[in-house]
Amino acid sequence: MAMQRRRLKLVVTVMMINLFIFILIFRHSSQDKNGHHKVRIPSGPFWTKLAPNVAYWNLQQQILDLQNNPILMANYSATAVPEWFTDTSLTSDPCERNLRVKTQVKDYNSLPDRFKDFLLYMHCRSYPIVMDQLDICKEQPFLLLAVKSQVSHFDRRQAIRQSWGKAGVIANQTVVTVFLLGNATAWDHHPDLSNSLRDESARHQDIIQWDYRDSFFNLTVKEVLFLEWIQTHCPDAHFIFKGDDDVFVNTYRILDFLKGLSEPKARDLFVGDVITDAGPHRDKKVKYFIPESMYVGKYPPYAGGGGYLYSGDIAARLHGVSQQVPLYPIDDVYTGMCLRKLGLAPEKHKGFRTFDIEEKYRSNPCAYKSLMLVHPRTPQQMIQIWNWLSSPDLNCQ
Ligand SMILES: *[C@@H]1O[C@H](CO)[C@@H](O)[C@H](O)[C@H]1NC(C)=O
Ligand SMILES: *[C@@H]1O[C@H](CO)[C@@H](O)[C@H](O)[C@H]1NC(C)=O
Ligand SMILES: *[C@@H]1O[C@H](CO)[C@@H](O)[C@H](O)[C@H]1NC(C)=O
Ligand SMILES: *[C@@H]1O[C@H](CO)[C@@H](O)[C@H](O)[C@H]1NC(C)=O
Repeated sequence: MAMQRRRLKLVVTVMMINLFIFILIFRHSSQDKNGHHKVRIPSGPFWTKLAPNVAYWNLQQQILDLQNNPILMANYSATAVPEWFTDTSLTSDPCERNLRVKTQVKDYNSLPDRFKDFLLYMHCRSYPIVMDQLDICKEQPFLLLAVKSQVSHFDRRQAIRQSWGKAGVIANQTVVTVFLLGNATAWDHHPDLSNSLRDESARHQDIIQWDYRDSFFNLTVKEVLFLEWIQTHCPDAHFIFKGDDDVFVNTYRILDFLKGLSEPKARDLFVGDVITDAGPHRDKKVKYFIPESMYVGKYPPYAGGGGYLYSGDIAARLHGVSQQVPLYPIDDVYTGMCLRKLGLAPEKHKGFRTFDIEEKYRSNPCAYKSLMLVHPRTPQQMIQIWNWLSSPDLNCQ
């Protein structure tokens, strides 16, 4: 009897709990129906509307980003395309003078001439090659040394050939040196040195020249032409050093460093004297001045153009991605922009001294032993330092 009563009590308790749960659920769902917890649907799009940037370079980047976005482009009917997007400066021939910049860049008329020249030809990336070295990479280089030079710098090139750029086999690795030149035009009042250059090229066969005006703001043109050249002439180079003709490079140290790299590290290598958190100079008197009508925003991390070292694999990727980045008048910043687009950042290495070493160490041979690059050095200094480092008597303990 007591047993049955207890069982009944249990059944009743369970039923009460079930009822309670049912009421709770019912109340909750009826609340939804009554709209107390209505899902809010945004009335407009929750992404920001694509507005054209006022700075000319940034606008060109937006246009390239749109053109390279397959999802957006798949559904861009002519009516949906914003006006600023169709009004591209990409006329039929990108190498024609683009006179539209005169109205598109708001302070065009008050900009220094170098900006006008840059803007007028900003979309042109191909210039004829007038001196080439077709077979220079016939033997696959372990290290390709590419030196940015100018027609008149005969002594710098010769000093590099006699010192750190000694082509051939150093420490059992194939090292190839090339000099990258544009044209010293009569327009800029340069003397005509083309005959001397032709003689030099015939003798050393290490000069590559393109027919465009070699100026500071056109160094980015040199960069993209060189990236193209690597892919067509030297795609198998393991590593590439690219730098100026007024630096000393410790080729021995660089080869040592490269040989010690693990395979993944070697594939993604990009090292140099990296500058982070920089932005455009707004002071008109600085060489690196960039007006706000041209660029807004910070710079990505970039390796100073005095010299940096990267893998052949990165070179191929840079070549590909550079098509998606508008030319920028400062070449090392441009390379940083391309790396950022690849999702990479250059790595800082203490051996790259683009701002030189302390004065008291400059005449100490041992100070150079563990360095990879020092800037600046004259042709005579390059040969002297190279002789120090090459001497079997050098003892630095
Ligand atoms: C493109 O638009 C059509 C109709 O306007 C739509 O059905 C389709 O899903 C859209 N495709 C993409 C990739 O947005
Ligand atoms: C270069 O290679 C040769 C033979 O392959 C070897 O005898 C020599 O020690 C190597 N030299 C260096 C500097 O590694
Ligand atoms: C370079 O510039 C000079 C002088 O302006 C011109 O005569 C020459 O045709 C240009 N091209 C080359 C490849 O030298
Ligand atoms: C770059 O080179 C092109 C072709 O020679 C020239 O027309 C343009 O003025 C140059 N740009 C600058 C900024 O010097």
